[in-house]
Amino acid sequence: MSVKLNRVALIGTGFVGSSYAFALINQGFVDELILIDLNEDKAKGDVMDLNHGKVFASQPTHVRFGSYQDCQNVDIVVICAGANQKPGETRLDLVDKNIQIFKGIVENVMKSGFNGIFLVATNPVDILTYATWKFSGLPSAKVIGSGTTLDTARFRFLLGEYFNVAPTNVHAYIIGEHGDSELPVYSSADIGGVPVMKMIERNDRYKNEDLDDIFVNVRDAAYQIIKGKGATFYGIAMGLARITKAILNNENAILTVSSYLDGQYNEKDVYIGVPAIINRNGIREIVELDLNEKEKEQFHSSSSILKDILSPHFN
Ligand code: LAC
Repeated sequence: MSVKLNRVALIGTGFVGSSYAFALINQGFVDELILIDLNEDKAKGDVMDLNHGKVFASQPTHVRFGSYQDCQNVDIVVICAGANQKPGETRLDLVDKNIQIFKGIVENVMKSGFNGIFLVATNPVDILTYATWKFSGLPSAKVIGSGTTLDTARFRFLLGEYFNVAPTNVHAYIIGEHGDSELPVYSSADIGGVPVMKMIERNDRYKNEDLDDIFVNVRDAAYQIIKGKGATFYGIAMGLARITKAILNNENAILTVSSYLDGQYNEKDVYIGVPAIINRNGIREIVELDLNEKEKEQFHSSSSILKDILSPHFN
């Protein structure tokens, strides 16, 4: 009986792509990883460098250089290719450049006969995930963006630091655009089952204004990191590996990925960061949080910003 192999193709081996490949090799849940990049020398160098570490990994992952034709039999195509933010640039400044790049990439992948799941990381990720869905013609459930997965991780880290608990015991989401209009959902955030707002009431050591500061630090984290080191890549790479694992291991895990809304949260025809149940088939279901009035307004505003950016390109 043939064993089903977990196979991933990565398009774009820049800072984010190569960090994602490194995360996959170290976590060992992918059987074959194919690296694709216009810069063949760079990609082939990464293949060699990663394969030489194989002996140290918990489970062996076969890494090889490939081309679009190799996407035919892979489970997931991850796209990290495209221009990235420079200091002072917003993610939305990259739209025109990256939509054109994506048109070529997605059409070439689909020519291979690919029928798996797209996972998009390139910014502006909500716009480019929508573009990938349109250019591929695949069902929306099989086109996923990293969305606010990293923002939610940053949020849980900072809340964990503030309340001095492990981030795994913080249940709190960032939803909306992966960008300046994202929003924290404090109304349903809890620490080990205790609502965050209840934590504030019970102990005057904790203050509401601190929660506002925490959110600002989450929202602006990438600008700080880019100012310091010129780009962000480790956090997003680990977030992409987490989404990949949830798909390949059929986890039904809830992650705030960029998902297509068709009426959920009273929004239609937009990709945006919301909690979604992820398994081997992609997005199984959108999780509809019970937002308060302020959160509903902020989410609608974020969705409107994305739809205004999309309309000149897709209507
Ligand atoms: C960040 C990039 C992935 O937020 O947008 O680090």
